[in-house]
Amino acid sequence: MSFNTQELNKLRQDLTTYDEIWVFAYGSLIYKVDFPFIAKAQTSIVGWTRRFWQGSHDHRGTPEKPGRVLTLIPTKGEICHGIAYQVSHEVFEHLDYREKNGYLRYEMDLYFADQQKKAGLVYIAPEDNEAFLGEASEFDIAKHISDCRGPSGENKDYVFCLANALRALNIEDPHIFEIEKWLLKQ
Ligand code: SIN
Repeated sequence: MSFNTQELNKLRQDLTTYDEIWVFAYGSLIYKVDFPFIAKAQTSIVGWTRRFWQGSHDHRGTPEKPGRVLTLIPTKGEICHGIAYQVSHEVFEHLDYREKNGYLRYEMDLYFADQQKKAGLVYIAPEDNEAFLGEASEFDIAKHISDCRGPSGENKDYVFCLANALRALNIEDPHIFEIEKWLLKQ
């Protein structure tokens, strides 16, 4: 799959057919909300975990020295907690551009705190995308992140901003907090 998924995403869902569109945020979309939204709510998805296994050539690294950012990995029985934003379909022009480095839009069930279940869209960078870096220990990921930066800033600031945002939401995530711990020790 090519690096730039912007055009592919336009073909994946016809957003004009949705009555309500919710986008699920598990990474930078939680703390960097540079798009208008109609409503937001704490939400979960089932069977996925966040991992810093995706390369970033355009935000937290460069093509010569890709940083590491989050994607979701299918994991039986796991629940990934995040935020869902209700948005208009025009917002996807911006989101598809922002998430173009390997992320595809997937439709899945979002579980809201009030027990409601609604369909939502989630950007996931699958393992077969060219920017995928894959598994490494939290220590090695922190070492890699500490040495990278790109147009959106220092790679470590992605981790710090996300960890702070998760704590504010009372969301526990051992992978994220372990990487943050190693980064703070450097
Ligand atoms: C997300 O935050 O939901 C997508 C991944 C990212 O942009 O960090």
